[in-house]
Amino acid sequence: MTKIKIASIGLGRLGMVHTQHLSELKEEVELLASFALDDAQLDYAKEHFGIKPYKDWKKMIDEEPLDAIVITSPTAFHPEMTTYALNAGLHVFCEKPLGINMDAVEEMVHAVKDHPNQIFQLGFMRRFDPSYQEAKRMLDAGELGEILYLRAYGIDPISGMESFVKFASDNDSGGVFLDMAIHDIDLVRWFTGQNPKKVWAVTNSIAEPKLEAIGEVDIGVANLEFERGMMATIVAGRSASHGNHVEFEIMGSKGWIRIGQEANPHYSTLFTQKGIVKPYMQSFPERFSQAFVAELKAFAEAVKVGSPSEIGANLEDGLESLKIAEVAKISAEKDEIVSL
Ligand SMILES: NC(=O)c1ccc[n+]([C@@H]2O[C@H](COP(=O)([O-])OP(=O)(O)OC[C@H]3O[C@@H](n4cnc5c(N)ncnc54)[C@H](O)[C@@H]3O)[C@@H](O)[C@H]2O)c1
Repeated sequence: MTKIKIASIGLGRLGMVHTQHLSELKEEVELLASFALDDAQLDYAKEHFGIKPYKDWKKMIDEEPLDAIVITSPTAFHPEMTTYALNAGLHVFCEKPLGINMDAVEEMVHAVKDHPNQIFQLGFMRRFDPSYQEAKRMLDAGELGEILYLRAYGIDPISGMESFVKFASDNDSGGVFLDMAIHDIDLVRWFTGQNPKKVWAVTNSIAEPKLEAIGEVDIGVANLEFERGMMATIVAGRSASHGNHVEFEIMGSKGWIRIGQEANPHYSTLFTQKGIVKPYMQSFPERFSQAFVAELKAFAEAVKVGSPSEIGANLEDGLESLKIAEVAKISAEKDEIVSL
């Protein structure tokens, strides 16, 4: 197989970004078709990326001569779409998280396990970001010593509020832990190689009434406790006034590493009469553009060589992170510490 024949499902906030990247990976993939419900999205993708548009994703899978599919639909549809595509013989790249309903996710788990020769990769793209990779390398080489504590912030920009409210009104986002904190839950597992023993989570809805109106929150904080008392605090939210605030810190016995403290596009600083201004990134596609391309390249390579990417998240990563996010949700709802 020289080029992977591929199609994309979903052309929304992230699906359009993935589809654009697929159209640019000309050496690795041949982008044939895309599915969306929205005519304007299909028209845009047809004009800019030359895809064949579909409004029926099963028909697209049945009719197109595909090797693989990239699924960026609303989360609740991931299990059904993944299962259908695997049964049709396709390799699957699916956005995080695996799903929302655990029964549906169980079926998806069986489908992935029933097709061991087909690649399944989950979209935890931060693993492919050079900064996180450097932290992983340092940890694995013992350069940071024993991990004592990890702290993560993943707060969407308030400038993205309208598109998030639409996303979470049209379909269930899963809530702040399943939809947002799960990125850092995955990274904590990836860095430490451990699952937590206890989770205590809280949320608030103070600043943005639009979120409360649709059952979402401003901030969710999950505290995770591991073996030997190692701890992690994950803060996720939707309304950072300055931009896309993504930060990760690992406190080790021999040193600390902090990633992404200043998400400064072009590394520029503006000196004005009012003071010094550093522009801040406003969106996740901007902050993680390298990682989004790298994860799709890794998926194409995995399909080509018939072996999963070592960096990419697999089924177990998806399942464990989802369980932890689900427990955080339950902890916040019940206002109690939950043991795993
Ligand atoms: N990795 C990341 O950082 C990241 C960032 C954003 C979103 N995501 C994930 O990507 C997925 C999509 O998120 P989004 O923000 O792009 O969503 P979106 O609402 O912007 O787009 C959804 C797309 O799916 C289609 N769609 C809508 N309803 C559908 C239905 N009932 N059946 C089939 N298709 C339907 C829409 O036409 C649209 O093209 C989610 O699972 C989300 O968690 C991941």
